[in-house]
Amino acid sequence: MNLPASLVLLPLLALSLSASAGEPNADRGAHLYAPCASCHGADGNGTADGSVPRIAGQLESVVRKQLGDFRGGRRSDFRMTEFADRHHLGTVQDLADLAAYVSRLQASGARGIGDGTRATAGALLFGARCASCHGADGRGNDAKVVPRLAGQHYSYLVRQMYDAVDGRRQTLPRLHANRIEPLDFAQVRGIADYLSRIEPR
Ligand code: HEC
Ligand code: HEC
Repeated sequence: MNLPASLVLLPLLALSLSASAGEPNADRGAHLYAPCASCHGADGNGTADGSVPRIAGQLESVVRKQLGDFRGGRRSDFRMTEFADRHHLGTVQDLADLAAYVSRLQASGARGIGDGTRATAGALLFGARCASCHGADGRGNDAKVVPRLAGQHYSYLVRQMYDAVDGRRQTLPRLHANRIEPLDFAQVRGIADYLSRIEPR
């Protein structure tokens, strides 16, 4: 059959347009954020006990990727998945708008920290094993989609490190587990303590 080229190309063009997002719109993101506030707080700072992470000030590319991962089932958490599903977040544009809004929120307020006894040792370990990707002082890398860890709640960081080693968070690169696996509990706590104590920008 000989279809005119436009009949074949137009639907393809429409598909590629709907799959990529336009300019992120933080104002639209602010409206979409309303249901998120019940857990992450109106200011995005989560809870100091680390059960809900601070997302205020997280890098834009990272927030967008994490939302996409929850929505697509590549990262799972029963509390998050429901809110990142297609019902709440319909389009790729929604994810981009939310990420623009969340990344501009100011990290502030109470945050969970460790007991301080191993923070100095943790800083050295972080510099040697983690800073090559996560950046000096855990500031992350927006272009490479590596999360900012500085100023995150202590218990959340500890949990994510163990989740990485146990393979519960499947998107964490394998190299990641290799960097954390050899560490004992005291060392993991030391790194988390060091990171949690870094003041927000
Ligand atoms: C019912 C509570 C709840 C609601 C509502 C919720 N979240 Fe979450 N969110 C969580 C929890 C808990 C985690 C941590 C999951 C884990 O431990 O892996 C999380 C994780 C995240 C992360 C990943 C953070 C990181 O550092 O990797 C992002 C980004 C996020 N949420 C954004 C949102 C946005 C945007 C909304 C609204 C659309 C939202 N959340 C709604 C509880 C919630
Ligand atoms: C090869 C690069 C690389 C190295 C080295 C690395 N990480 Fe990561 N890390 C990543 C990436 C990429 C992610 C985000 C993965 C994703 O998209 O889910 C991440 C995620 C994390 C998270 C989850 C953050 C969040 O907000 O949920 C923690 C905690 C973490 N890394 C800690 C560490 C620690 C501690 C070390 C050193 C012992 C380390 N990482 C070494 C690349 C790296």
